[in-house]
Amino acid sequence: MSKKIKLGILGGGGDSLIGVLHRVASFINDNYQIVGAVFNPNFEDNMAFAKQIDIPTDRIYKDFDTLIEEELKLPKEDRIQVCSVLTPNFLHFPMVKKLLENGFNVICEKPMTTTYEEAKILQATMEKSKTVFALTHTYTGYPMVRQMREMVKAGAIGKVHKVDASYYQGWINPIIHDKEKRASTWRLDPKKAGISCCIADIGVHAFNMIEYTTGLRIKSILADFNYVYDDNPMDVDGTVLVRMDKHVKGLIRSSQIATGEENGLSIAIYGDKGGLRWEQESPNQLFVLSDDKPLQVYKPGHGYNSELSLGGTKLPPGHPEGIFDAMANIYLGVARAVRGEAYNDGEFPTMLDGVRGMDFIESTVASNKQGNVWVDLH
Ligand SMILES: NC(=O)c1ccc[n+]([C@@H]2O[C@H](COP(=O)([O-])OP(=O)(O)OC[C@H]3O[C@@H](n4cnc5c(N)ncnc54)[C@H](O)[C@@H]3O)[C@@H](O)[C@H]2O)c1
Repeated sequence: MSKKIKLGILGGGGDSLIGVLHRVASFINDNYQIVGAVFNPNFEDNMAFAKQIDIPTDRIYKDFDTLIEEELKLPKEDRIQVCSVLTPNFLHFPMVKKLLENGFNVICEKPMTTTYEEAKILQATMEKSKTVFALTHTYTGYPMVRQMREMVKAGAIGKVHKVDASYYQGWINPIIHDKEKRASTWRLDPKKAGISCCIADIGVHAFNMIEYTTGLRIKSILADFNYVYDDNPMDVDGTVLVRMDKHVKGLIRSSQIATGEENGLSIAIYGDKGGLRWEQESPNQLFVLSDDKPLQVYKPGHGYNSELSLGGTKLPPGHPEGIFDAMANIYLGVARAVRGEAYNDGEFPTMLDGVRGMDFIESTVASNKQGNVWVDLH
């Protein structure tokens, strides 16, 4: 029998943005085999896509409830072991809850849910179910982001005193400035996306990157959103001041109307002995800054990197690591956890990251609504 982990997929059809990233990532380290799916809500599209990518159609189900019902009828050794949830945001909570309740391990896209309350319910459900749960804050899978985390942990930049994360995109410009388009995109529909667009879609990645790389928690925030049009109910730009401690402060800048920007995520962490800076569009360079030494550039795969970082490279130095590799590293960590093998807690974002992310999203919406006031996270 195949030693591969049996993977199920919800969402991520041929029409989706993120599906291909998960499928390729699951394949990269030879750990998973896709055995069942509901790629699309329309059964014909679902079957057609399964045939197109050559997945056996006997376990392509008409909807999510049928997937659970039918999979539970199979002997445990044949059943889906890990299910990836790649649907629009509002479906994450009901799908993940039912999957966890029925003993399936889950890989879920961010934002984890649409509310903090739902996130806490999932946390309690997972604790009871003793399953593995990972949230795909994809950028934490890059070798140089992992290196950043390990260097901060080892004291390479001393005591952290300033954080600055920025996530700038411009893709929503042609949609937001067109009345019809802005009324028909799921990311701008609160019923499908939740209470926020920009912060929930990308600001939350920047938030997670700060907590992931520093190991510190953001305690309070002050947010200022831009909706651009009065008839648009969702933020498409948000600037957030953050306080991690009395003397550790910074900001998160996120925008989907930063004209001409593509996927401009960058993060800088400054301490009393040095600084670290990383940019997603040049992910193989980690800049090490100092007041009294020349600029250093760390790159993946070299022996000077930490074990966690080196665990995320497969080829010798000079072979660039990209977004597919970053997601593959998260899938690799989950495979280890599901098999009961040892793994580093930096290998994949967890339920706690999901709860923290929802806390952040709700707090920024509250801060903006209340007139840009400081709000404490839970
Ligand atoms: N980690 C990242 O960096 C990243 C990047 C992009 C998107 N995302 C997240 O991934 C999720 C999906 O985003 P996207 O851009 O791929 O969306 P999308 O609209 O491009 O694709 C959504 C897919 O889900 C399918 N779907 C919808 N309802 C379904 C249902 N009831 N059952 C089964 N399938 C269903 C659609 O048919 C489609 O294939 C979102 O939560 C988004 O925030 C994460």
